Amino acid sequence: MANTDPVRVGVLFSRAGTTSRVELSQLLGTFFAIREINDSGGIDGRELVAVHYDPQCVPQHYRALAERLVQDDHINVVFGCYMSSTRKAVMPVIEKWQRLLMYPTPYEGFEYSPNIIYTGAAPNQNSAQLAEYMTRHFGRRVYLVGSDYIYPYESNRIMSDFILERPGGAKLAERYVRLDATERDFLPIARDIKDKQPDFVFSTVVGKGTRMLYQACADAGLDPLRIPIASLTTCEAEVSEMGVRIATGHITAAPYFQTVDNAVNRDCLARFRAWCGDEVEPNMCWEAAYFQVHLFARAMRQSGSDEVGRLLPCLLGSEFDAPQGRVRIDPITHHTRLHPRIGRVGDDGRFVVVAESPVGVDADPYLVNHAADEWNMRSVALGQVDG
Ligand code: ACM
Repeated sequence: MANTDPVRVGVLFSRAGTTSRVELSQLLGTFFAIREINDSGGIDGRELVAVHYDPQCVPQHYRALAERLVQDDHINVVFGCYMSSTRKAVMPVIEKWQRLLMYPTPYEGFEYSPNIIYTGAAPNQNSAQLAEYMTRHFGRRVYLVGSDYIYPYESNRIMSDFILERPGGAKLAERYVRLDATERDFLPIARDIKDKQPDFVFSTVVGKGTRMLYQACADAGLDPLRIPIASLTTCEAEVSEMGVRIATGHITAAPYFQTVDNAVNRDCLARFRAWCGDEVEPNMCWEAAYFQVHLFARAMRQSGSDEVGRLLPCLLGSEFDAPQGRVRIDPITHHTRLHPRIGRVGDDGRFVVVAESPVGVDADPYLVNHAADEWNMRSVALGQVDG
């Protein structure tokens, strides 16, 4: 008799807390993919069932709920985490019990776990391209501002290296705000940016603080056309929160924007809207959360099991036609081949893709190939669509 038991998977995204807006989009991207898989017969007739807990953006809750998924719910595969601090909290649990985490968020790189698949961008897939674009179009004097946790520290270190290795590259300031910062925390920063007049601001502020930073800069009279804020995380979720008036002109590097112009993306967005309306704004983290579930389902159809030892060999090297283009899990790094893009918010609030890589780029999470020449060569391949 064929096995008809449901396949239960763990889901850890937050509905409350500082990054809940983007995490809700990841949650719905995950549920949407699960629904598509079930609508087309499940995994060889077995229904895929999500066991979701809300860790409320607190790393210790992520860790405790990962334990619960493993120990009480006997789950083998978990989809989840946004902030790197939450991934780092879950990792020891997943490794100890030999389970698998699929992580759909851009992050700082310099990590490998045999029990994690990374489907968001590593620094050679977003930071390198953003540094190239910003220094070419705006200048080499950068002002860094971030939230107070590991991703911003590390991401700022990497961005600083990319800027400072260029002649004339300068870091004018590096400031951090608490994750629960309020509007008042951003006022002195916006004033300081205005005083120092950098060529651009690099923001690694995440969650609710994002709107506050962009708002404070607008209120200080900073013109995004002259001194834009560049980011790796400010996506459609944050743009919809801050509103068009504040967002227009700012710049983000990501493998996916809603405006990516291909049939797979258009069809996927139409199906998603038909399913859940406009409750969330699809964005790079939504897309990675969506396609990683499909990658999992395909691998499990091949392996017949979600036990890591059997599933992983089928997942490694696997490919999928995602909304951003074809993606592939690298068997050695466990990271994903992605399509680097630069988007600038237009006056309708949608990202206009102003530069994109003509080919998928494998992750180089430890920046092994990091040399100025190497990036310059890659930047030549970064097709400019804005002249
Ligand atoms: C992040 O913390 N990886 C956005």
